[in-house]
Amino acid sequence: MLNYTILPGGTLQGEFTVPGDKSISHRSIIFGAIAEGTTTVAGFLEGMDCLATMQAFRDMGVKITQPVNGNLTIKGVGLQGLQAPKKILDLGNSGTSIRLLAGLLAGQTFSSILTGDASLQKRPMSRIVKPLRQMGAVIEMHNENFPPLYIHGQENLQGIYYPMPMASAQVKSGLLLAGLYASGKTTIIEPAPSRDHTERLLAHFGVAIECKGNSITLEKPKKLSSTHLTIPADISSAAFFIVGATIATGANIILKNIGINPTRTGIIKILQMMGAHIELVNQRLSGKEPIADILVKHSKLSGISIPPELVPLAIDEFPIIFIAAACAEGITTLGGAEELRVKESDRIQVMADGLNAIGITAQVTRDGIAITGGRLKGGHVHSHGDHRIAMSFAMAGLAAQAEITIQDCENIATSFPNFLELAQQAGLKIEASTVL
Ligand code: S3P
Repeated sequence: MLNYTILPGGTLQGEFTVPGDKSISHRSIIFGAIAEGTTTVAGFLEGMDCLATMQAFRDMGVKITQPVNGNLTIKGVGLQGLQAPKKILDLGNSGTSIRLLAGLLAGQTFSSILTGDASLQKRPMSRIVKPLRQMGAVIEMHNENFPPLYIHGQENLQGIYYPMPMASAQVKSGLLLAGLYASGKTTIIEPAPSRDHTERLLAHFGVAIECKGNSITLEKPKKLSSTHLTIPADISSAAFFIVGATIATGANIILKNIGINPTRTGIIKILQMMGAHIELVNQRLSGKEPIADILVKHSKLSGISIPPELVPLAIDEFPIIFIAAACAEGITTLGGAEELRVKESDRIQVMADGLNAIGITAQVTRDGIAITGGRLKGGHVHSHGDHRIAMSFAMAGLAAQAEITIQDCENIATSFPNFLELAQQAGLKIEASTVL
């Protein structure tokens, strides 16, 4: 088991960047694979989740070069060119991989089985499988909600009009992928905006996709056309350093080339409401995605009531936002965030337990949490194998009065393989140890 120890007294300084965006990296492989021609990708995240997506496509006969410093090429096989996998597709820890692939594979001429690790096997799949069944998909699930998914490919999917019950980019994207193989129109209605990388990328690959207000419509295209993609650095990974620099005395950092897609910047809005000093400079476009350099300085934070409409726009950043709340003066409250309970871990309960372990009062509610800012003591925290919980408590070490140890940190490699090195270089006093 990989554990981290963080000593007090660190700070964050300097100019650096973080690895490529996880959501866009997954999608670059998926769309590149079913496009016609060769797609080149720069800035690909070589984390375990995206490598699981890559392996799944190799298992379906797609030639993808081994990534070198985030550069790779994909020999697209076209919409009808995927081959039946000879084995079960193991998607590891990755909810994005399994939900997007469920949609893509529902409309193939072959059958497939999708599974993942112990955490993924506990994550709900009926949210994607039920609407896929409405499209004509034939999919069995363990206990009608969990992986493994047994997908019996169907060549006669039909488009649907589907108002989604929850804001979920994974469900939206899975349905749009099925829509690429369905007759008639596929229209998805979102209850609130969620990340729109699928929509932007489909347009980039030449698919006619119509986004109007909260509705997204596409029809089966003739083809996807190969392209070049430069993937921005992941704001969800930058978030750890943004909060770290905000809470560390004397900190001052510049994070380069970070994706600032408006469906992902809830973290910036929330921290600015709390009083953080964050500036976005050098704003520009990288392909169809906006990027910027982000300047962050140490600042004093105040507790707030987090606006519920920002929840889907900061969905992956709540573990680190809770660390900011622990360092703020006053109480921070969050509601309408029940989705956090079905991420890589139950992020409401696991964060509350970890905060309590380091001397912070955190009370859980059904769909959120109330955190009373205070002095962070040291202590021992269990990450429950959740990468974002582990990295969040690592950054908490910047404001703690004593040593914090974090148990079960291996899965940081799913989204941020060089986190330890980068954090050390920037000034966090963090060490790894392996315990049998
Ligand atoms: C993702 C969507 C989000 C997010 C996940 C990545 C994506 O999940 O939590 O890390 O790439 O589409 P939901 O859409 O299920 O909220």
